[in-house]
Amino acid sequence: MKPEIQKRVTRTLILSVLALIVGGAVGFYQVSIQNARVIQKDGQGASGSADIAGLELGGPFTLTDHNGNEVTEKDYAGKYKLVYFGFTYCPAVCPTELQKMSRIVKAFEKNHPDAAQNIEQLFITVDPERDNVQVMKDYVSLFHPRLIGLTGTRPQIDFITQSYRIFATRVEDESLSDYTMDHSTFVYLMGPDDELVSIYRMKDTPDYIYKDMQQKLGLS
Ligand code: NI
Repeated sequence: MKPEIQKRVTRTLILSVLALIVGGAVGFYQVSIQNARVIQKDGQGASGSADIAGLELGGPFTLTDHNGNEVTEKDYAGKYKLVYFGFTYCPAVCPTELQKMSRIVKAFEKNHPDAAQNIEQLFITVDPERDNVQVMKDYVSLFHPRLIGLTGTRPQIDFITQSYRIFATRVEDESLSDYTMDHSTFVYLMGPDDELVSIYRMKDTPDYIYKDMQQKLGLS
């Protein structure tokens, strides 16, 4: 390669790497700000055992489960619910968080089998345009036999993301053939009466969440 061309190639490479870094940082910053708005309300963002008193989340919804049945919040009444929002095309965060949820529920199945039957795992898509019933059905089966995938119309999904204060937005990525989604990554623990019990964050380990849930469910 001629030195002149080599220089140009190197410069282009450096610029595209920089663009990726800046783009990623901006995306991360946006999500962080949105998350901070929710976390601010619970008093202490640093610790998972935040004081969440007074934080109103959730409420009625109508969605479609991964078997194609219409469901509402009443279908899960009386149970504890781990609620996570994401999308099946998510390259890294969603699979990690869903695997974490599944590990936690498996630990309950082993140590507290009765209580485990009273814990539902809800995975709600923020990308209903691609995550139809069949896509959700195939995806949830990768994680846990009792993981419930929920999709719906765009208005139904917008409604529930607002009630749970979930930030989700479509991002066009020129380096990918298709769009991706930026979204909040909280796992909410909702109680039998649909009250918010705990908020877990990406940095919370399965062990930490398991112990917190054990305490909140009154198990020892
Ligand atoms: Ni994701």
